[in-house]
Amino acid sequence: MLANKTIVLGVTGSIAAYKAADIASKLAQAGAKVEVVMTESATKFITPLTLRSITSRPVVTDMFESTTEFSIEHVALAEAADVLVIAPATANIIAKVAAGIADDMLSCTVLATKAPIIVAPAMESNMFQNPITQENLVKLKARDFTIVEPGYGRLASGKVGLGRIAEVERIIGTIKQVLGRSKDLAGKRIVVTAGGTQEPIDPVRHLGNRSSGKMGYAIAEAARDRGAAVSLITAPVSLPEPVGIDVVPVKTAAGMKEAVDKVAAQADVLIMAAAVADYQPKTVAESKIKKETTSLTLELVRTPDILAEIKGNFLRVGFAAESEDIVANARQKLERKQLNLIVANDITDPTGGFGSDTNKVTLIDRDGKVESLPLITKREVADKILDKVVGLLNKGARVL
Ligand code: CTP
Repeated sequence: MLANKTIVLGVTGSIAAYKAADIASKLAQAGAKVEVVMTESATKFITPLTLRSITSRPVVTDMFESTTEFSIEHVALAEAADVLVIAPATANIIAKVAAGIADDMLSCTVLATKAPIIVAPAMESNMFQNPITQENLVKLKARDFTIVEPGYGRLASGKVGLGRIAEVERIIGTIKQVLGRSKDLAGKRIVVTAGGTQEPIDPVRHLGNRSSGKMGYAIAEAARDRGAAVSLITAPVSLPEPVGIDVVPVKTAAGMKEAVDKVAAQADVLIMAAAVADYQPKTVAESKIKKETTSLTLELVRTPDILAEIKGNFLRVGFAAESEDIVANARQKLERKQLNLIVANDITDPTGGFGSDTNKVTLIDRDGKVESLPLITKREVADKILDKVVGLLNKGARVL
């Protein structure tokens, strides 16, 4: 997604300027062409040589120091940019851009570009919270700038407060999200479920399963990168919260059903990658169950089948975790749950599935087409599923 994209990285004079090196390095490693534009004060915090070495491209520092071509340089960069990112962005550049002032290379490029612009503020917390800065940010948002909100943390002054530049992963995630806007899922609403539900036994125990959530998270991120508005309804997992996705945390099958019923009503596609418990304890003990007896019997009752019960005019994609007769069993599920597509995986295959970063799946659609994929990363599986989804959406397929 970042490969061969031209990313203009504007760096301004903040103590967080050193983070620009990490951002530039990650973008360059992902195959992007990174064009760095530094303000004069940024060069006091990090040398142009550092960024030049990382990006293997000349770094533009000041239009008046450039060669005779200086006057067209900002125009060339502005036109070449697929996205322009200002990270870190000081209160000063934010104010300049909000006021439409163009008096250095970076502000000229901002004004001259038609590319989407991302701003990652970094400053002292009083400066960030000052109504003037906040009003400037509101102005930028109204002009379709994407703001990567800063977080709490230790600031240059040694104080702890709001104003610390967002994590590099967050900034990169936002770049991907913005680049994905024009992709084949632009304008579509996709609901993805992920993780294994937890059915409580008592206040400290639950029945769970080994789902890591990685497959569902990969689908949600891939859909976001292809331009969809994504809601991720997730059972507890230990994965970082994805950027640019509406995350709805749930615990139980019943909680997931409630969230899916609500969110999917407006969706174009529902992808149920979650491992939903089929049974839950009939009653939940109010206090911790003591080990007073030599054996204990838990009575379990069926949970709702979210996918089979949901109504609505959206595409449905289900998963089938199977240990035998994979295709036949998955086909039955496709019919029983009235799905457009089912993703079957062989849980006995040690190279893929639960907890792993890879998966080996077979895609089966309603026309009976069976496509067995090799062992690939979950992100690649996610894109294969979404390729099918795009094809079905283009055909106007729906199950009512
Ligand atoms: N699913 C669901 N609600 C449930 C159980 C499963 O919505 N209570 C969804 C899963 O998210 C998945 C699909 O149904 O997309 C199939 O899940 P799977 O566990 O393979 O099948 P089950 O219907 O539970 O059937 P079985 O366990 O008997 O194979």
